[in-house]
Amino acid sequence: MQWKNRTYCGEVSGEQAGAAVVLMGWVDAVRDHGNLLFIHLRDIRGIVQVVFNPQTGADLYLEATRLKEEYVVEIEGVVHLREPGTENPNLATGRVEVYASRLRLFARSRTLPFQISEKAMVFGEELKSSPESVDEELRLQYRYLDLRRPTVQARFIQRYRIIRCIRDFLDERGFVEIETPFLTRSTPEGARDFLVPSRTHQGKFYALPQSPQLFKQLLMVGGMDRYFQIARCFRDEDLRPNRQPEFTQLDLEASFIDEEFIYEMLEELTCRIFAVGAIDLPRPFPRMTYAEAMSRYGSDRPDLRFDMAFEDLTDLFEETGYAIFRRIRDEGGLIKGFCVKGAADLLSKNILQNEYALKLVPAFGGKGMTWMKVAGGRLESNIVQFFSPEEQAGLVARFQAAEGDVLMLIADTDRDLAHKVLAALRLHVAQRLDRIPQDRFRPLWVTDFPLFEWKEGRLSSQHHPFTMPDRTDFDPRDVEGCLRLNSRAYDLVMNGEELGGGSIRIHDMAVQRKIFEALELSPEEAEGKFGFFLNALEFGAPPHAGLALGLDRVIAMILKEPNIREIIAFPKNRSAFCPLTRAPAGVDPLQLEELGIGLTGSGGGAKDSAAAQSSKAAVRSERISTGEVRHVARLARLKIDDTEVRAFQKDLNAVLEHFETLQELDTRDVEPMSHVLDLKNVWREDVPREGKEIEPLLQNAPMREADYFKVPKILEG
Ligand code: AMO
Repeated sequence: MQWKNRTYCGEVSGEQAGAAVVLMGWVDAVRDHGNLLFIHLRDIRGIVQVVFNPQTGADLYLEATRLKEEYVVEIEGVVHLREPGTENPNLATGRVEVYASRLRLFARSRTLPFQISEKAMVFGEELKSSPESVDEELRLQYRYLDLRRPTVQARFIQRYRIIRCIRDFLDERGFVEIETPFLTRSTPEGARDFLVPSRTHQGKFYALPQSPQLFKQLLMVGGMDRYFQIARCFRDEDLRPNRQPEFTQLDLEASFIDEEFIYEMLEELTCRIFAVGAIDLPRPFPRMTYAEAMSRYGSDRPDLRFDMAFEDLTDLFEETGYAIFRRIRDEGGLIKGFCVKGAADLLSKNILQNEYALKLVPAFGGKGMTWMKVAGGRLESNIVQFFSPEEQAGLVARFQAAEGDVLMLIADTDRDLAHKVLAALRLHVAQRLDRIPQDRFRPLWVTDFPLFEWKEGRLSSQHHPFTMPDRTDFDPRDVEGCLRLNSRAYDLVMNGEELGGGSIRIHDMAVQRKIFEALELSPEEAEGKFGFFLNALEFGAPPHAGLALGLDRVIAMILKEPNIREIIAFPKNRSAFCPLTRAPAGVDPLQLEELGIGLTGSGGGAKDSAAAQSSKAAVRSERISTGEVRHVARLARLKIDDTEVRAFQKDLNAVLEHFETLQELDTRDVEPMSHVLDLKNVWREDVPREGKEIEPLLQNAPMREADYFKVPKILEG
């Protein structure tokens, strides 16, 4: 292997004209002109054109005619400047080409499931392919092929650069990278755990960490002072474009610090990593309390790229004659709204009334919407006559509304619901009117979250139970008082997305005990769940705080990818399945037996055996959860009760189990059964079979050219 002499394809330059080079890579594209054969050779650093000339090397030319896309080769040749007029500005190496003198074939490739080449061989020709043009499931199944595309490779190189930038930055500030275990106990982040059965402790399970939370706090108790980790985390939760069952956090923790340390350092770090993507973030990052974020934007992660903040209007309607508002007001409800500047022409009465008020707002969970336009110096709407001149003037003043503005109002006795509906409405209208500037980045610290929330008849931690409250003199038995406590937690939010979060931790066991008491966690329960951690707090814990950034989300945002799957090398699909490895998969029954696990139901690939059925831990393997059935039912607008949910779940699982038993057909060695053309290389001149009736053969051709049936390139062999 001539790796010592290798020149990367993308680095062949005009200065090397006349010099011999050795190139190694994949054939990106081939074009045979008969008198000359060109290939694009591609490696991680780019593409260069290589020329094979039958005049100067007939055998070499013949060898080259056998090359196909994605064959792996080594080529020796001499660099030449291209003839004027034949340069290809699409390529960084477009001014040069390499005249081949030797070709070595390392590997052939099967016919590709999708086109990989992204660069046209001739300037001006349409680009051949892009990741977006191929079905994502197919791309993930053949991720190693997808990864060969320069645009996809570039994302992972950028991901690496961003992570390197983080490491350098934290290193400069005295942080030490420490790994924490994967096989551990459940952590208190609130999602479902992925469990790993233990062979040596039958019936017991490790949990994969949802985050290294407790370990990083233990590192602080251990005096490590400043820790970080590029940590893989595992959460079994419903997936969304910004969620994966395993994802990466930049997890950090430091001792003897307070919130300001985190704000200052994270602002600097965030600006540096966004600069890797040439994004200049506005500084300083503003801060907003949770209460303000909810009140102004109905969300704890408001998107500040556009305005349309909410105004509370309840006080304007003290004496209103409009019965609906009056009733809602009297029942302690809320009347709120936002102003869409200059949108009167874009939001017709029909859209506002029939689309928003009657369809979308009810779909968001609201009962109705009131809208008004400012037209001809007056408010205009289907119900404006119910509002007094003072009320109308009050509305205009509150919103500083001008001609052409549209007001959208929600009133509800359920204040949280009013905020939720307004938030959904604000986003919908902004998207519809294209008011969200895609090239704008608006970071924000959200602070002062409530410490507890009321869930299923008891207090529950909003973040996790180790978060420091804003006051420590509370009475844990006073539920109302506890619900008024704020936490010393903070989230880093950008463009409507939660990028990270953290808090000042409790380092005093007395406070920790009070939190458990408020959570109605008995000392025995607390001991059972986190005993090891609580013990540590009794041995002199320093004041400490930390945060975790969702690195996949951060990188996706820097690279302007809406979907985090694009920046994870081997992600799971939307149903937490890996199309490449086909995980999760059934396992050998013997493996289960060794683990002492028997499966109930019919699935999972394990045979029922007497041993497996005996006193062993029983694990149910459900592919579709009841939550997913309910979600689909909601989408289909079906109202189904619990019995029906379970029945659907059972049927759907049975269908999926059956699918998993089906083998994929391997057609590699199957001969085609019929051919329109002789089996020749269809890249070059082919002659239709003599004497065939061409017209009947071509009558259903979606495209034809002369006597040829034109097919998408993917079918060429
Ligand atoms: P939290 O649970 O807020 O905090 O997680 C921190 C960040 O991780 C990202 N994130 C995810 N990214 C992709 N897929 C997921 N399923 C997923 N879940 C979360 C988010 C989130 O802001 N231990 C605390 C941190 C601390 O207190 O220091 C924690 O994990 O961007």
